[in-house]
Amino acid sequence: MAKKKLNVAMIGYDFMGRAHSNAWRQVARFMPDLTCEPVMKVVVGRTETKVKEAAERLGWAEYATRWEDVIARKDIDIIDICTPGDSHMPIAIAAAAAKKHILCEKPLANTLADAEQMWKAATKAGVIHMVCHNYRRCPAVALAKQLIDAGTIGKIYHYRGTYLQDWIVDPAFPRVWRLVKSSAGSGSLGDILSHTMDLSRYLVGEPVEVNGLLKTFITERPLPDDPAKKGAVDVDDAALSLVRYDNGAVGYLEGTRFATGRKNYNRFEINGAKGSIVWDLEQLNELQLYVEEGPNSGFRTILVTDGKHPYVGAWWPSGHIIGYEHSFTHTVYDFLRAIAEQKQASPSFEDGYKNQRVLDAIERSAQDGKWVKIG
Ligand SMILES: NC(=O)c1ccc[n+]([C@@H]2O[C@H](COP(=O)([O-])OP(=O)(O)OC[C@H]3O[C@@H](n4cnc5c(N)ncnc54)[C@H](O)[C@@H]3O)[C@@H](O)[C@H]2O)c1
Repeated sequence: MAKKKLNVAMIGYDFMGRAHSNAWRQVARFMPDLTCEPVMKVVVGRTETKVKEAAERLGWAEYATRWEDVIARKDIDIIDICTPGDSHMPIAIAAAAAKKHILCEKPLANTLADAEQMWKAATKAGVIHMVCHNYRRCPAVALAKQLIDAGTIGKIYHYRGTYLQDWIVDPAFPRVWRLVKSSAGSGSLGDILSHTMDLSRYLVGEPVEVNGLLKTFITERPLPDDPAKKGAVDVDDAALSLVRYDNGAVGYLEGTRFATGRKNYNRFEINGAKGSIVWDLEQLNELQLYVEEGPNSGFRTILVTDGKHPYVGAWWPSGHIIGYEHSFTHTVYDFLRAIAEQKQASPSFEDGYKNQRVLDAIERSAQDGKWVKIG
């Protein structure tokens, strides 16, 4: 039977645009059980010459310079938002009003109020919505979830999540959009700690109380278009938080772009009554598991490349490792399945809102130094 074709329009075509394009291109070829097939119909950017070149390079059939026009098209089924946070809300609200399914990059929005509006609009429209917290779909992380749900490490006591980078340590690094509150919403907090928080909400529980510490080490930087002049950095360079979860677990989370030598060190360690689980993106095919089994117990490494492991059966024979880009292919796979089955995807905009609610509480705690209750 011919598969239902779903026309995708992607807005933004740089880092995430490239990662998503690869995912849309690969997903139906490697996941034949999908009952629908995405068509890379149109990519949207603001500058015609650049978006035209991006369409050719990334494999989109058409290009456009105004997302409003594309959302108004009857032949578009899915809007994929790969732009900075300041445009997520208007694009998502318009897409929901036009009854398009929406995949949106993280963090869902720059403010809690925007995130709530997006969640409500998408729910009211009855469309499928999803936030791209792609790390949930690394096979080793999905296996960690299965092990935790099966009780393998018992009651969870600790979540220790760190997301460490160093790309802005140099004071001469320009003040790009990620360093400006009006475009990015926040710094390390929304950019990388949002992933660490999402992973804890996925694997451990719902945060009920947090404290926060935000720090900006370099408060002005050269402007990208005029390096002789400097502009203020008004977002955090580092974000730290202690968290109490609803099930009694406690967490320590850190996101920073000043961890010299660390490039994309996205790692968590979870300690439970019967064992522990450790994962590190830079060794993404491996899961460290410790289970208390007497004198011979110790951490062991599971190479998560076996056909029986989550998502992996779609790729290569056992032991043939996969990479960062596959997490996006798995994300669009689950998103397309949700559309085909008309079941809400996860993490949904509700999850994005709940994650944003915790980030917002961390920001408020960082201002007055007090613990903040969630919800
Ligand atoms: N899931 C992840 O792991 C991950 C990783 C990096 C970035 N992100 C998120 O993805 C989003 C984009 O980040 P990026 O790294 O791809 O940024 P980027 O700077 O590499 O690309 C942004 C793109 O958006 C376009 N753009 C900006 N404003 C626009 C507007 N108003 N209308 C149309 N196009 C516009 C730019 O021209 C560019 O093509 C952000 O929300 C970011 O937090 C997620």
